[in-house]
Amino acid sequence: MNILILGGGGREHALAWAAAQNPKCDQLIVAPGNAGIASFADTADIDPSDVGAVMDLVSTESIGLVIIGPEAPLAAGVADALRAAGIATFGPSAAAAELETSKAFTKSICDAAGAPTAAYGHFKDAASAKDYVRAQGAPIVVKADGLAAGKGVVVAMTEGEALAAIDDMFGGSFGAAGAEVVIEEFMTGEEASLFVLCDGIDVLNIGTAQDHKRVGEGDTGPNTGGMGAYSPAPVMTDAVTARAMDEIVHPTLAELARRGTPYQGVLYVGLMIENGAPRLVEYNVRFGDPECQVLMMRLGAQALDAIHACAEGRLADMHVNWANDHAITVVLAAQGYPGAYDKGSVISGLDDLTKDSKNMVFHAGTGLRDGQIVATGGRVLNVTARGDSLADARDRAYAMVDTIDWSEGFCRRDIGWRALS
Ligand code: AMP
Ligand code: GLY
Repeated sequence: MNILILGGGGREHALAWAAAQNPKCDQLIVAPGNAGIASFADTADIDPSDVGAVMDLVSTESIGLVIIGPEAPLAAGVADALRAAGIATFGPSAAAAELETSKAFTKSICDAAGAPTAAYGHFKDAASAKDYVRAQGAPIVVKADGLAAGKGVVVAMTEGEALAAIDDMFGGSFGAAGAEVVIEEFMTGEEASLFVLCDGIDVLNIGTAQDHKRVGEGDTGPNTGGMGAYSPAPVMTDAVTARAMDEIVHPTLAELARRGTPYQGVLYVGLMIENGAPRLVEYNVRFGDPECQVLMMRLGAQALDAIHACAEGRLADMHVNWANDHAITVVLAAQGYPGAYDKGSVISGLDDLTKDSKNMVFHAGTGLRDGQIVATGGRVLNVTARGDSLADARDRAYAMVDTIDWSEGFCRRDIGWRALS
């Protein structure tokens, strides 16, 4: 089978790495890909959200399965066009992708499904949003309704911060994404994420993970796309996972199906867990990045079987063989990230690293210049290891980090601290 993966970050490198190990995979194309992916797969320089360009590539390369990595192509309707053309597709329709593209949509689904989540109000003008904040008091969470590249959420510890965030959002800081806001109760507890595949009918749990969103050690400093992750998340015990499936995941998927927009793809279920009770923080309609890297490290080649079964509506017959293992990924980012950073610095030492089923460096933002690997993004490398214990995986990941020669980069040295302490 010829496979096309859309996207070009660490998530897509990990998906491609897992797929390439599976004997079902003949030709593998990643669009647009990056320098790490290009070392073992074909790449195609197209915009993954350009429906016409994707459809052309699928037909010229006789693609049998398309795996959609990021949210933008899903929001653009790429999965709809592929399914309409009869291509096996991993990723939800634009209608089902509203679980990520609209916070108000997700809240309305939770209401209809009875899924536990933060109490909220939904506003289309600043004055009524501010009245709500004054009535509720701080801490409180202000969210731009639409996609805002991970920056549309303000956890306000004071009323003043919340009011300023409302002015910002209605003032156009987030463009159309901020034309409506959702204001939520501040939830306390521990965050973790659960990943499930759904083929429109059946559901398969494929694992849990914990991300590190803040740029600084000890979870300090500004929010990022994620500075590291590990799997499994100890807070997601069997009992918590069962409650999340029964109270949140199944009712949500049933409500989407009832509305005539069944969900097909991976659902990222972001949870807040307090006293053994999970509540929904957010859905994403794709794998997390860098959570995908640790999930793929643990699943290996069987990830492709699960993804393929999901795309073909065969999840009822699918199960995952879990090892009793742990994986961790450390993000190497360009100095300055998540603020301004330079591009083009040379990274060396990568060739000396072991690459096997327990040790991998996934490329997130790299390119090739005169035969050398150069940084092209904010998050640049995902140094990933698997072991019998999280401590073992962590030690090997940081040993790899220390072998990489890139003075313009940095990482957090405490990835996994919560689970290791
Ligand atoms: P999101 O963009 O929805 O993932 O939100 C970013 C982060 O904001 C989440 O990972 C949480 O850490 C935090 N957050 C979002 N909503 C809430 C809430 N209702 N209570 C507490 N923290 C929240
Ligand atoms: N790592 C968080 C996300 O992918 O949204």
